[in-house]
Amino acid sequence: MFGNLRRRLASTLPLDDQKEKGPGKNRQSRICLLASLAALFWFLLLYFHFVVLGGSSTVTQLNPVSLNTKSINTRPSNPNPIPVNRHIATTRPTGKNGSLNIVKSSSVKHLPKNKKDKAHSEKEKYPFMRALRTVENKSDPCGGRYIYVYDLPPRFNEDMLKECRSLSLWTNMCKYTTNAGLGPPLENAEGVFSNTGWYATNQFAVDVIFSNRMKQYECLTNDSSLAAAIFVPFYAGFDIARYLWGHNVSTRDASSLALVDWLVKRPEWEIMGGKDHFLVAGRITWDFRRLTENDWGNKLLFLPAAKNMSMLVVESSPWNANDYGIPYPTYFHPAKDADVFIWQERMRKLDRKWLFCFAGAPRPDNPKSIRGQIIDQCKNSKVCKLLECDFGESKCHSPSSIMQMFQSSLFCLQPQGDSYTRRSAFDSMLAGCIPVFFHPGSSYTQYTWHLPRNYSQYSVFIPEDNIRKRNISIEQRLSEISPEKVQEMRETVINLIPRLIYADPRSKLETLNDAFDVAVQAIIDKVTKLRRDIIKGRKDDNFIEELSWKYALLDEGQEVGPHEWDPFFSKPKDGNADSNSSSAEIAKNSWKNEQRQK
Ligand SMILES: *[C@@H]1O[C@H](CO)[C@@H](O)[C@H](O)[C@H]1NC(C)=O
Ligand SMILES: *[C@@H]1O[C@H](CO)[C@@H](O)[C@H](O)[C@H]1NC(C)=O
Ligand SMILES: *[C@@H]1O[C@H](CO)[C@@H](O)[C@H](O)[C@H]1NC(C)=O
Ligand SMILES: *[C@@H]1O[C@H](CO)[C@@H](O)[C@H](O)[C@H]1NC(C)=O
Ligand SMILES: *[C@@H]1O[C@H](CO)[C@@H](O)[C@H](O)[C@H]1NC(C)=O
Ligand SMILES: *[C@@H]1O[C@H](CO)[C@@H](O)[C@H](O)[C@H]1NC(C)=O
Ligand SMILES: *[C@@H]1O[C@H](CO)[C@@H](O)[C@H](O)[C@H]1NC(C)=O
Ligand SMILES: *[C@@H]1O[C@H](CO)[C@@H](O)[C@H](O)[C@H]1NC(C)=O
Repeated sequence: MFGNLRRRLASTLPLDDQKEKGPGKNRQSRICLLASLAALFWFLLLYFHFVVLGGSSTVTQLNPVSLNTKSINTRPSNPNPIPVNRHIATTRPTGKNGSLNIVKSSSVKHLPKNKKDKAHSEKEKYPFMRALRTVENKSDPCGGRYIYVYDLPPRFNEDMLKECRSLSLWTNMCKYTTNAGLGPPLENAEGVFSNTGWYATNQFAVDVIFSNRMKQYECLTNDSSLAAAIFVPFYAGFDIARYLWGHNVSTRDASSLALVDWLVKRPEWEIMGGKDHFLVAGRITWDFRRLTENDWGNKLLFLPAAKNMSMLVVESSPWNANDYGIPYPTYFHPAKDADVFIWQERMRKLDRKWLFCFAGAPRPDNPKSIRGQIIDQCKNSKVCKLLECDFGESKCHSPSSIMQMFQSSLFCLQPQGDSYTRRSAFDSMLAGCIPVFFHPGSSYTQYTWHLPRNYSQYSVFIPEDNIRKRNISIEQRLSEISPEKVQEMRETVINLIPRLIYADPRSKLETLNDAFDVAVQAIIDKVTKLRRDIIKGRKDDNFIEELSWKYALLDEGQEVGPHEWDPFFSKPKDGNADSNSSSAEIAKNSWKNEQRQK
């Protein structure tokens, strides 16, 4: 209550007000008001100190950079994998607790002595104070949630859509950029979908879907000084897709370099060196992590400026801190809540005749791939349905065949392909089919914003080696799960649907949060926490970027240490996972397969 009181006092004395009006007519009376409020403040302060609390513990509260830093953000509401203070919180003395600790330096600036100087210097020190204070404005429903969107030169976004034919050598992307990025509507001839809200969405279309979805965000602002985060509507995925094959590195890097050059000159950049900026690329991170001249992709994510920003990608790197996994788009893009509820209800009631199923192609060139074994097991099981993706005519790429199979199965196998992740995982969950993962990088370390941390609530994990080396029977493993447990997991999966789909960007769901909402909130939480950490002087010098994947899995107060999944993310013997890496190979192979499926 004490904290609240102080904050309310603070908000009755708007700093900017004073500054803007300067020495005006009613300065005199303002000073009187200030003085009496200050006196009241001190009275209350002393009252609380001596009478209510009667202890010495409050004295340190007055220090704006006091060390009694109990973490303000608790784990569940803050999925930020950058462990800025999760670590610190445990290593610093944490003697205090409760609301008293939430007293921020922002309120200290209203102390009576030389308040203006102090306020002024604080303002200079933390140019994001104004934005941060909006959190406390209870009459502002957008307080703490404002997003500022850059008006980028069109060559960074709109022009790419105009030149959609050049976006891919093999696929005519023009089809997929229609309907605000959703692609052409899907007919519901077989009754697999619903009659509205279904589109033949390209798996790499999130760049444009997200940007359009942002236009519906309820707390946009044109005043960047209020922004909780700053969105850079660059179509990074479309940009690199154009040049992946047959273009030299300077062509591949050109837009990224131009973008960064443009950004770092903005006044908005200066505020936090870009650490409140985020952008979206609907492709896998490996397309943006070229280390050597001869490798694949561009070097966007290795540029110093990009290291300060957050990039949302459909597959993030376990070893890097500047990218975050967000769901692949599915075919379902509802325009209203009711469409989602009807769909969920339908998925609950379906009769699922297969125990498990798999849609995908083997990887004969990759000796480590377990796909061959998975396909064999499925073929040999009476309770498994297989959609084999071979060359030529194949049902494996038909949305209705895929969704129909997922809708009639209890479990859907999701082994890695060329890279860790697959769009298919999201299609299957949308169908209420419980995903079975074989590598933690396929989901558990990727989509920590969108999926429960306790993965056994919504999925089954069978470590790859159990298939590769021990040839365990998937059928047996899955049939051991009780019907009650299956029902419980499916219910969890179905309840997750809203946050895994991208709503139609041309309208807005009434109450549900979709994948976009979840991602934006996570970015806001991350930046807000960072700002508070800066004010409190907290920083984590022990952060090891190479272990990024681990931080997101920590419980509050837990330290990074050995993990049972270490072998899944161990680096090659030469010590550098990226050099000559498998990651360039991953990206290249993934791209080749992309060309096969149309
Ligand atoms: C934290 O607060 C609780 C009550 O809110 C109190 O019982 C406890 O002693 C406090 N702990 C410390 C370390 O101050
Ligand atoms: C609080 O928010 C309301 C509504 O947006 C706005 O009118 C008001 O100026 C804000 N107050 C402060 C102190 O910023
Ligand atoms: C921002 O400015 C543009 C152009 O002046 C205007 O169209 C838009 O509505 C403004 N947005 C907000 C959130 O005020
Ligand atoms: C890269 O390709 C572009 C366009 O094809 C060309 O203009 C440029 O000279 C090439 N750069 C290098 C370093 O080869
Ligand atoms: C990135 O952030 C750091 C620290 O905040 C800052 O020193 C650096 O200049 C920033 N980099 C760029 C390219 O702005
Ligand atoms: C995770 O979820 C499972 C299934 O709901 C439950 O049995 C288990 O206790 C949970 N684990 C933790 C650590 O919460
Ligand atoms: C795996 O086990 C099945 C029987 O469960 C057997 O038919 C198959 O040959 C085994 N595969 C390998 C690679 O050992
Ligand atoms: C990278 O690996 C490939 C084989 O995958 C090998 O041919 C090539 O020489 C390696 N390059 C370097 C720089 O080590």
